[in-house]
Amino acid sequence: MTKPTEQLEKARRYERLEESKAVDGERPLFHLTPRVGWMNDPNGFCFYSGKFHLFYQYHPYSRDWGPMHWGHAESADLLRWAYLPCALAPDTQADRGGCFSGSAVPLPDGRLMLAYTGVQEAPENGKAVQAQCVAFGDGTDFEKSPRNPVVSAADLPEGCDIYDFRDPKAWLTPDGRFQMAVANRHKERQGTILLFESNDGLSWRYRAALDSSGGIYGQMWECPDFFSLGGKQALLVSAQNMRAKEGFHPGHGSMAILGSYDEKQCRFVRETVQPLDEGLDFYAPQTVLAPDGRRILIAWMDNWQYCKRTPRPHPWYAQMTVPREIAIEDGRLIQRPVREIEALWRDTVRYNEVTVGQETVLPGVEGRLLDAALTVRPLSGPCRFTVTLARDQEHRVVIEWDSAREELLFDRSGEDTCQDIAHIRRVRVEKREEALSLRMLLDRESVELFLNGGRQVLTAVLNAPAAATGVTFASDAPALLSVEAHPLGASPSDD
Ligand code: FRU
Repeated sequence: MTKPTEQLEKARRYERLEESKAVDGERPLFHLTPRVGWMNDPNGFCFYSGKFHLFYQYHPYSRDWGPMHWGHAESADLLRWAYLPCALAPDTQADRGGCFSGSAVPLPDGRLMLAYTGVQEAPENGKAVQAQCVAFGDGTDFEKSPRNPVVSAADLPEGCDIYDFRDPKAWLTPDGRFQMAVANRHKERQGTILLFESNDGLSWRYRAALDSSGGIYGQMWECPDFFSLGGKQALLVSAQNMRAKEGFHPGHGSMAILGSYDEKQCRFVRETVQPLDEGLDFYAPQTVLAPDGRRILIAWMDNWQYCKRTPRPHPWYAQMTVPREIAIEDGRLIQRPVREIEALWRDTVRYNEVTVGQETVLPGVEGRLLDAALTVRPLSGPCRFTVTLARDQEHRVVIEWDSAREELLFDRSGEDTCQDIAHIRRVRVEKREEALSLRMLLDRESVELFLNGGRQVLTAVLNAPAAATGVTFASDAPALLSVEAHPLGASPSDD
């Protein structure tokens, strides 16, 4: 392995020195934040050498997006992460404009291969050209291939774009070939996912276009992932500039396209499209296949529309979602927090069929570190049932289920904010009997809502101060509420 470059050494030194400025107890308990500075997309999510590894888009030197590095952390249980040194810096000809998103492939010879987008300025017009690069290493140090970029303009089919060409998700086929799905902006089909193949990870050839937005599901697509799950083939993409429809909100959104796949012909046939998360803060998901066969998804818990304008009280900015086990049920991709979360349950508080009308407090169901599963059943007719959380005199975040309209409202505008950003989502809840099941996972500065067994999910960053810990329930017509709640905490052996 050659010595780290000056740029990489500088980033590593900087993060080592600066991380001590983070205040103990302010980071989320189990959501990954950057070691210092800025973070966006999850990258290189993999299981390597006995641990889960997660890299991330990283700008260590400020809490704003800047020349992209790859930050790095590892974990045995997907919840308690340890930082490793910055893995990539923009330090070669092929990536001096940034090391954009990508993936990691554990190789049979014991090395880890990273595939990422190298950005460099075009000499003719100064515009940022994107191409795909690879690096090989031992899980801490990586050597970039002198052949980078290994997939570039010359490899692109007709109509594709050299400025919007990024985010390789690479894998090994069972017979040992490398494949990668890469996002591109096609001049007619718009967001398009291209499949490339290679025998050695260095010489690649174009095979097929897997699917395109056609201008219907957003414009440019980003951050593809492609895998089989529960008898279906899943293509995940994050779309820029979507219109509101089919459960998607306007703006950037991530979707699961489920279909069938003929591997020989590289032909993917789309059957259904669903939003992956209907909340406020979710983008660029990536998955890993765990050794026990679970497919686990993690995403950036933020929103490009306003991440540059939200307050930054810590020396780090942004966080990942909780890792989620995904599965197909009734033709739909469902998500649940990884079961490892149970190791953080510190207590169990149960209430069975409490009749809720006026505002109700359930002792023990409170706090900003909480995993609570609720079931709400209207008693005699429709109801509007409200859960208020992150609550004190001045702050509140409201979740309201309207059983007649089959709608759920999430509203964080009561956080006493002065930021003119999106605070509200109103989503149609798929009907399931006459009850709502809602699991809410709170980790200091976030809440993730899993509706009806994870068939729908809403994720949002919370900005209310840590002291706003109240949780209350109310209903405009009597409803029966059952709760199993677990305050969360690190176990003493973690320290
Ligand atoms: C998605 C994205 C990727 C790109 C990265 C740059 O959030 O725009 O397409 O690789 O962020 O940081």
